[in-house]
Amino acid sequence: MPRRRLRSAAATRALGERLGQRAEAGAVFALVGALGAGKTLLAGGIGAGLGVRGPVASPTFVLCMLHEDGRLPFAHVDLYRVAGLAEAEAAGLLEAIHGRGVCAVEWADRVPDLLPADHLWVEIRPVAGRPNERDVILRATGPRHAPFEAVLHG
Ligand SMILES: Nc1ncnc2c1ncn2[C@@H]1O[C@H](COP(=O)(O)OP(=O)(O)OP(=O)(O)O)[C@@H](O)[C@H]1O
Ligand SMILES: [Mg+2]
Repeated sequence: MPRRRLRSAAATRALGERLGQRAEAGAVFALVGALGAGKTLLAGGIGAGLGVRGPVASPTFVLCMLHEDGRLPFAHVDLYRVAGLAEAEAAGLLEAIHGRGVCAVEWADRVPDLLPADHLWVEIRPVAGRPNERDVILRATGPRHAPFEAVLHG
């Protein structure tokens, strides 16, 4: 599994931008990591890479924010407050995640059944004693997202 040390918040954002630049319709980025790991920062980079202009803030309280001013529609979902599949479906998140555009899902591990079988799992881990560094792992779960693994070192 491709893994890389990200030595600054800027490096994390830049990785997101590269993912956003290469994203095609149907791309789903499952962002996984503890509180404050950098999921929203990475999602903001993905949005910037897609050409989204407005700030990509945390959608924790609205569950999903749709940005339509980029190259493709960008749905930014946050499952932190979502209890399970039924609640997610009721909130319309299934449509958001399986929509025509690109999707980033924070806390994707909370409701894994929401994800399409083929997605990019992006795990951000803290580094002990180094508050501004993260280890990131990219794992494509199917052929559609396999090309993104190379983006880690691009
Ligand atoms: N290398 C790094 N990568 C990512 N974030 C970093 C890094 N170094 C420091 N940070 C800081 O960590 C914080 C990450 O916040 P962010 O909101 O992106 O996390 P999050 O995973 O979305 O949190 P939450 O679980 O609350 O949604 C930011 O303040 C960012 O500046
Ligand atoms: Mg967040």
